[in-house]
Amino acid sequence: MTALLDAAERMDREELRALQLERLRATLLHAYTHVGHYRAAFDRAGLHPDDCRSLADLARFPFTTKADLRDNYPFGMFAVPEERVRRIHASSGTTGRPTVVGYTQGDLDTWADVVARSIRAAGGRPGQKVHIAYGYGLFTGGLGAHYGAERLGCTVIPASGGMTARQVQLIQDFRPEIIMVTPSYMLTLLDEFERQGVDPRSTSLKVGIFGAEPWTQEMRREIEERFAIDAVDIYGLSEVMGPGVAQECVETKDGLHIWEDHFYPEVVDPFTGEVLPEGAEGELVFTSLTKEAMPVIRYRTRDLTRLLPGTARVFRRMEKVTGRSDDLVILRGVNLFPTQIEEIVLRTPAVSPHFQLRLTREGRLDVLTVRAEARAGATPEQRAAAAVSVAAAVKDGIGVSVGVEILDPETLERSVGKFRRIVDERDRPGS
Ligand code: DLL
Repeated sequence: MTALLDAAERMDREELRALQLERLRATLLHAYTHVGHYRAAFDRAGLHPDDCRSLADLARFPFTTKADLRDNYPFGMFAVPEERVRRIHASSGTTGRPTVVGYTQGDLDTWADVVARSIRAAGGRPGQKVHIAYGYGLFTGGLGAHYGAERLGCTVIPASGGMTARQVQLIQDFRPEIIMVTPSYMLTLLDEFERQGVDPRSTSLKVGIFGAEPWTQEMRREIEERFAIDAVDIYGLSEVMGPGVAQECVETKDGLHIWEDHFYPEVVDPFTGEVLPEGAEGELVFTSLTKEAMPVIRYRTRDLTRLLPGTARVFRRMEKVTGRSDDLVILRGVNLFPTQIEEIVLRTPAVSPHFQLRLTREGRLDVLTVRAEARAGATPEQRAAAAVSVAAAVKDGIGVSVGVEILDPETLERSVGKFRRIVDERDRPGS
């Protein structure tokens, strides 16, 4: 096993921390010297990169937010001359300007290395075939996975998202061992296998590497069982790199090891910004340690999780992400994340994993309706019982009343990438 690990994975904690500090200091200086935003922000805080003498000193430096990136649209956060930037990615930006990120050739190499390391941690080996159904294009999923799989020495099948019937055909014909896709699109593929009369457990697939959106242990069980594969979690975000910031190891499946030689994590209180101790839940914050084109200092991800000590690797782990603070629904004073509903839906036998949450307003009250599809063959009695049981489980487990609609199979829209779990109709006239 050890022979398979790269040099950084074989370090001990002391060596790793020394490397992190050296890289952190260089990154702070690089950002301060070359990015107007960081120079101004550090100056305002009365800090110079030299004030960072230990890893703990990082907590004195200011945060960076998505708004900072938007304010510097498109290239104001770049720390190298534009001609050194080899690639640009951007978020779709549902409102206003997209977030733009840039990579030098060195950054693209680092990215390919961390994704290769991720696929290996997931159980992938050189010579295997990887079916990539993350979207290609400005989204980092497709191309990020692509170059990492090539770097590991795998054969890449660059399917991208969509054309679901053809994806099922390709999986049967090309016989990949690994699939990289969002968990919600994996469910869409599952339906398509069944529609074509192919047993999803009979494919060549052995490992699925799922990310780009939150998913639960219950979803893992569902996917592993229905496809007879190992399902592991990959995390990342464009602002920090793309996929491959953290990865779950297949041998432990106990949260995601953060590739800490390149990305330094902190967990902070989302309201006060105070750094929380290991094990406490809060907002994940990242500082890049090796990025050239667009270093990020204390970037607020809005993802909620906790940091845990390493197990299968020397690097610390992050627990599976509970949700983004943007997806938090506050219903009559009770906080609720879609993942909590996912756990309940997937524990309810007559209900399929396809569900959506609809938010509406009745008078001055917000109303949440869980809209979940029945499993094929569920009887009207089982469906009625499922509606009662989901509502009761939400009331008991989360402490709030919600409506539940059990829909016919294949009624809800299907995911081709990141799934829109919450449909917010509160501002619609008449709702
Ligand atoms: O989603 C990068 C990625 C692609 C990761 C493919 C994994 C696989 P963005 O589009 O910038 O980048 O979205 C980043 O997606 O802040 C999280 O809220 C969410 N996210 C990503 N991975 C996970 C995961 C890509 N494994 C945002 N679990 C992040 C939960 C995830 N949420």
